[in-house]
Amino acid sequence: MSQQTTGLGIDIGGSGIKGAPVDLGSGEFLRDRLKILTPDPAKPAAVAEIVAEIAAHFPETEGAPLGVTFPGVVQGGVVRTSANLDKSWVDTDARALFAEAAGRPVRVLNDADAAALAENRYGAARNVDGTVLLTTLGTGIGTALVVDGRLVPNTEFGHLEIDGHDAESRASSGAKEREGLSYHDWAKHRLQRYYRTIEDLVWPDLIVVGGGVSRKADKFLHHLHIRTPIVPAELRNTAGIVGAALSAAEV
Ligand code: BGC
Repeated sequence: MSQQTTGLGIDIGGSGIKGAPVDLGSGEFLRDRLKILTPDPAKPAAVAEIVAEIAAHFPETEGAPLGVTFPGVVQGGVVRTSANLDKSWVDTDARALFAEAAGRPVRVLNDADAAALAENRYGAARNVDGTVLLTTLGTGIGTALVVDGRLVPNTEFGHLEIDGHDAESRASSGAKEREGLSYHDWAKHRLQRYYRTIEDLVWPDLIVVGGGVSRKADKFLHHLHIRTPIVPAELRNTAGIVGAALSAAEV
């Protein structure tokens, strides 16, 4: 394990780009996070400027590892998919772009993967053996698979085709909002179908539900009838930032 004790994490989302210095011992923020609205259009150059601005806002982290999440597949620092952000990201070398903008090395990884690393180290998946599936319910559905503490990166089970639809277009919390579904109807008719399908394909030992809506887990998780234990994430909206910082420190 790395000797670093502080890292800087930045989480790129469809509505906001958020960053904070992280105490890697406890997984807690060392200062209040800074949130800047995601530019519209969210093209690479405009987003990179904000990444640089957030890094500069925390000068005490200069020299500390910097990790940045992206809401799509990221292989070797290169973005491969961008379902809910500008399409010009596809095939962009985000690692090189952000490193140039921030003036220091950067690790770039998928947002759900980052959240899973954080939950695995500090939260709901801590000390869990076997296969943990983390799902983030937001604009889309992010997924991450952790097997005996090791991340299998870039799983994209939010895009499973279920009943002829891209799963996230029906079961994300974005779909709930768009269609004005109650927690009960969303859980019974959308999440139930989603989690039943995925548990039959992956057979995880534990499912962790993250994303902003996991704060309201008591309104919908009890409506689900699946065989796999399913629990809310513990880090809630800090998981992406914390996991980004952690992954950068452990390269
Ligand atoms: C993307 C995933 C991402 C998820 C949550 C999906 O549409 O394909 O890579 O993790 O949204 O942002």
